[in-house]
Amino acid sequence: MENKEELQLQFEYIERLKKITENLASKYGRKPICAIVTFGCQMNARDSEKLNGIVSEAGFDLTEDESGADLVIYNTCTVRDNANQKLYGHLGTLKARKKKIPTLRIALCGCMMQEQSVIENISKNYKFVDLVFGTHNIYKFAELLVRMYESDSQIIDIWDKTDDIVESLPVLRKYPYKSGVNIMFGCDNFCSYCIVPYVRGRERSREPLEIIREIEKLVADGVIEVMLLGQNVNSYGKGLSGDITFAGLLREVEKIEGLKRIRFMTSHPKDLSDELIEVMASSEKICRHIHLPLQAGSDRILKDMNRRYTKESYLKLVDKIKVAMPDIAITTDIIVGYPGETVADVDETIDVIRKVCYDNAFTFIYSKRTGTPAAAREDQADENFVKEQFDRVLSAVRECSAIKNGALTGSVQEALVESVSEQDPTMVTGRLSYNSMVHFKGSADLIGSIVPVRLIQAKGFYYIGEEVKDEH
Ligand code: SAH
Ligand code: SF4
Ligand code: F3S
Repeated sequence: MENKEELQLQFEYIERLKKITENLASKYGRKPICAIVTFGCQMNARDSEKLNGIVSEAGFDLTEDESGADLVIYNTCTVRDNANQKLYGHLGTLKARKKKIPTLRIALCGCMMQEQSVIENISKNYKFVDLVFGTHNIYKFAELLVRMYESDSQIIDIWDKTDDIVESLPVLRKYPYKSGVNIMFGCDNFCSYCIVPYVRGRERSREPLEIIREIEKLVADGVIEVMLLGQNVNSYGKGLSGDITFAGLLREVEKIEGLKRIRFMTSHPKDLSDELIEVMASSEKICRHIHLPLQAGSDRILKDMNRRYTKESYLKLVDKIKVAMPDIAITTDIIVGYPGETVADVDETIDVIRKVCYDNAFTFIYSKRTGTPAAAREDQADENFVKEQFDRVLSAVRECSAIKNGALTGSVQEALVESVSEQDPTMVTGRLSYNSMVHFKGSADLIGSIVPVRLIQAKGFYYIGEEVKDEH
């Protein structure tokens, strides 16, 4: 249940923040400008929409360009070390700017801030940062900003968990026609390499009615595609009263009138049920795409990773999915260079890639995350070895996506138009149910609508097509 008192309190802080922005506006002769820079996954992107909702309600103008902002907020990720390095790069630039413009305010939030070592580093070496908060108290953003503007010293407020649900605060969506919707938070899987359970806390599912109500509101507001978000959507419902499963939730979401497309992320292979495959296959709205992270193909590595499936069970699952939906697009995540991984292990990964023939795969070099079990292993891989193995995996991925991309050439598909093409203003870019993109002649007024498009030519990861205007 939502904590109504807390919600009320945060609305009061938004009012106080409005007074602060009014004062800033009269000082600057214009509205203060805020930039929220987002790293990481869809969850962070959704969180940033919540942050944007609050600053915009409080009277800030928003910009994507942090160099012109009076308030810069970094919503950070820490899943791999390069995400952390990126943040420190940005902070270096801002430090110089803040010396010139002392009124500049800088706030940090998100997953990386849930790490003790990061907090120590920031409080010691990045004193020019004004506010630091984490993933659990993000709903207190308005209050934290008020405290920041009323104080001269660095504020660090990190919680290690939360039981409160405060979800009816303002949200400013990036896209009018599509939206992410959290169906659960946190993760309980503790894959041995992964830091997410430590920085996002325990798995918590939202009540189905709350989710449905949120989607209905979004649809009333013009949204036609939703992406249901969770680290492991297939275990949705655990811990809730009643018998709701992810498949059951999808059945309910399907019924929402006016909603055209449903996507979800991420589906953990160990919990993917037959019921889910059935629901997907018989659905009119669930997109023909599943992201099914493999991570590794070797049973030995999978066991050590604590993924709780084997190469064989993964392949069987993919077969079941393909039998039910022969045209489905399958994408995945792969980690190369896990401690102790050998050439023979990587061969197993490549074998799975070839057998599944993924439409696309995100391939990551293993990154050691302090505090995870895999980080404590002594057999961390050699950098050059990993690079070689990474290239082998990547070329297998490319071979398959080349086969897959192009398979739809000649067919007519529905595309949800997302934007005007960046290269050519006479073209628009649409997303197919399969998650691949198509460019075709069209103008901005098509954005947000679903258009039938004939796919004429495959180019790498996208198609060139033409709108089918009158199909009789
Ligand atoms: N919950 C999702 C994954 C979320 S993290 C799932 O279990 O499938 C997104 C991806 O980042 C993971 O699928 C994994 O491939 C990658 N990843 C996570 N930790 C990593 C690490 N320490 N090094 C390299 N890649 C990692
Ligand atoms: Fe990380 Fe595994 Fe949880 Fe995914 S399921 S977020 S990889 S611990
Ligand atoms: Fe990164 Fe946090 Fe997502 S660590 S991948 S932003 S859950």
